[in-house]
Amino acid sequence: MEEVRFIDLFAGIGGIRRGLEKQGFTCVFSSEWDEECAKTYEANFGEKPAGDITKIDEKTIPDHEILAGGFPCQAFSAAGKQKGFDDTRGTLFFDILRIAKEKKPKILFLENVKNLIYHNGRQTLKIIIKHLEELGYKVTYQVLNAKDYGVAQSRERIIIIASKDKPFDFGKIKPKNPNVKIKDILEKENSEMKFLSPEEYTILDKSLWKEQKTGMIFVGYRNKPIRKKGARPNTEHLSRVHKQCNRIYSSDGTHPTISSTEIAGRFHIYHNGKVRKLTINECFRLMGFPDSYKKISSNGERYRQIGNSVAIPMIEAVAEEIKNQLF
Ligand SMILES: C[S@@+](CC[C@H](N)C(=O)[O-])C[C@H]1O[C@@H](n2cnc3c(N)ncnc32)[C@H](O)[C@@H]1O
Repeated sequence: MEEVRFIDLFAGIGGIRRGLEKQGFTCVFSSEWDEECAKTYEANFGEKPAGDITKIDEKTIPDHEILAGGFPCQAFSAAGKQKGFDDTRGTLFFDILRIAKEKKPKILFLENVKNLIYHNGRQTLKIIIKHLEELGYKVTYQVLNAKDYGVAQSRERIIIIASKDKPFDFGKIKPKNPNVKIKDILEKENSEMKFLSPEEYTILDKSLWKEQKTGMIFVGYRNKPIRKKGARPNTEHLSRVHKQCNRIYSSDGTHPTISSTEIAGRFHIYHNGKVRKLTINECFRLMGFPDSYKKISSNGERYRQIGNSVAIPMIEAVAEEIKNQLF
């Protein structure tokens, strides 16, 4: 393959970059305005990303074949009523469009939360596709789950691929190591691990443990005080289970989506008869980051960074197919 250059927008800590680099693509520009993320990025890739993308003149960005980015999702106020892409002005998607218009990359590789599909009564995605098509791209998209690509986390994300030549065919992406379980990536017991004592949780009878389609196995809940206010009679106990962070999942299955807050981001896991949360290293492993990845920020900041990132093996699987189909 000839050299394929990409730019890494909304770079975070470089999850997308790592996935693309693993398939042999070369990063020629990155942008991330959050100082803490930028420091982690620099420690790992040896390059400080440029700052606020809205302030960067598209003409100064190096030529590239792939524009990649997991952009923050925002509503478009004028919802497609105006001409050209002015109806996206003031959003970060507008910045993606103006760069694509100037630099004409062969491919745009966009990542977002699954909910982008339903955002603003489905208008957001419709407008995104319309504008990419107006620039001459053929657009396909699919929701993929990280658990199908070798990580023990159920994390659904939409991937949108805009291609100047033929449309990208998601049907050709093959799942890889789809059966990794939480227990496969756990660290040896150490002092960082905070176990709950047996009075603090309830494990359900084994006959009630069921593996969900997402690979998660719900096995119990924390004995948090029951919320009586607003609950219908005899359903008070459900408040414990309904509050997601009170749920306990077996290490024989997958972990729910890791989010960006330390409190809500990790669920309790049940492993070898004990209950605890994942360590920060285990969270990075659940996103497919190698142990050698440098984590230099404070602990709370690390959870935020990894929760906002991507499951690298899933990005890599898409990148591999881009290489096969479009280069
Ligand atoms: C969902 S995260 C993407 C994370 C990334 N894919 C990763 O692997 O870590 C979106 C990122 O966009 C950054 N961002 C938001 N607005 C920005 C702007 N105007 N300029 C540059 N970066 C921006 C945020 O700081 C955040 O880190």
